[in-house]
Amino acid sequence: MMSSGKKKLRVGVLYGGRSGEHEISLQSAASVIKNLDTSRYDILPIGIDKQGRWHVGSMKLIQDSPKTLSIAQDGPEMALPSYPVSKSEGSLDVIFPIMHGPLCEDGTIQGLLELSELPYVGSGVLASAVGMDKDVAKRLARDSGIPVVPYVVAKKGQWLKDPKKVGALVEKEIGFPCFVKPSNMGSSVGVHKVKSTTDLAPALSDAFKYDSKVLIEKAIAAREIEVSVLENAKEGEPPLVSIPGEIAPTHEFYSYEAKYLDENGAHLMIPAKLDAKQVEQAQKIARDVFTALECEGMARVDMFLDKNSGKFYLNEINTLPGFTQISMYPKLWEASGVPYKELLNRLIELALERHRRKQDLSREYLP
Ligand SMILES: Nc1ncnc2c1ncn2[C@@H]1O[C@H](COP(=O)(O)OP(=O)(O)OP(=O)(O)O)[C@@H](O)[C@H]1O
Ligand SMILES: [Mg+2]
Repeated sequence: MMSSGKKKLRVGVLYGGRSGEHEISLQSAASVIKNLDTSRYDILPIGIDKQGRWHVGSMKLIQDSPKTLSIAQDGPEMALPSYPVSKSEGSLDVIFPIMHGPLCEDGTIQGLLELSELPYVGSGVLASAVGMDKDVAKRLARDSGIPVVPYVVAKKGQWLKDPKKVGALVEKEIGFPCFVKPSNMGSSVGVHKVKSTTDLAPALSDAFKYDSKVLIEKAIAAREIEVSVLENAKEGEPPLVSIPGEIAPTHEFYSYEAKYLDENGAHLMIPAKLDAKQVEQAQKIARDVFTALECEGMARVDMFLDKNSGKFYLNEINTLPGFTQISMYPKLWEASGVPYKELLNRLIELALERHRRKQDLSREYLP
């Protein structure tokens, strides 16, 4: 913890990015910046535009647009990942990447930050990449005894070569209704509920627009339960879990439209109406997935609770969850006794601690 009088930490907030969730990131970043304690931190907003260029901004961005941060167009462009931009500025102490989706939370940015030896908030390269790939994440989870909904994988090559064979596999192994979804995506982009054989081909060709690997999953009548996870500051101790929340979409499923185009697309319920045993089951899955995927910092774990069987399944893990003040991740923490500002402090402290631990590792093998 910092005591007063100590030098302020320079926090670079990295936001925007080249994914479909660019706009969500602008809102998440605005909330994060507004809530970072300015008595402890000096904040530098660094916006990545949709073309992938990095723009260094200033706190004026927040004054101009408090709800959704814009990207500075007049400031210096940053040649990645070199910082300081000019010698007169100090270097950054920690980066808070607050971007979602491919090229943002999939380990690519994290790799760049590793190379530049900057401490950063959230999971490292491995967990970020694995968390982004729904197929690999589920395989690892399954290996740890975490229940996942039955699914098969189709590769674009197989599909183009022999679509009938893929169709037959789906009918035999999964049946209808099923969900078709790109393995690496987010925001329900390319996700389809397929009710019969005739709808399968169009759903698959759309999903293959976004990734060369697609999951076809048994559709279940599910309640959607989410738990926020935070790394334990005590090394080696199990991660901390929030109370569960629930998202009840008002559409047939939690589609892109329900998420972003319809203000009343879903009801958020905190806490989720669950009995004590169900709360424990949901929290156990959340803890186990975070650990199995070797996550660090934070993650939001999304689960299905089968309305028919009463069984929980892991749906997916988000290593950089939405972070606006009304987003599920911080709201669940707030309801579990960790206010938004405190959450930011803890995440930054965890980032610095991991960096210290890494630097303590032996480099004796170097000549
Ligand atoms: N097997 C399933 N059974 C029932 N509903 C499902 C299933 N798979 C997906 N859905 C519905 O589709 C939505 C989107 O699916 P999923 O969460 O897998 O995609 P996403 O694009 O990764 O979303 P995110 O932005 O959370 O990463 C879910 O929230 C749920 O409403
Ligand atoms: Mg989802």
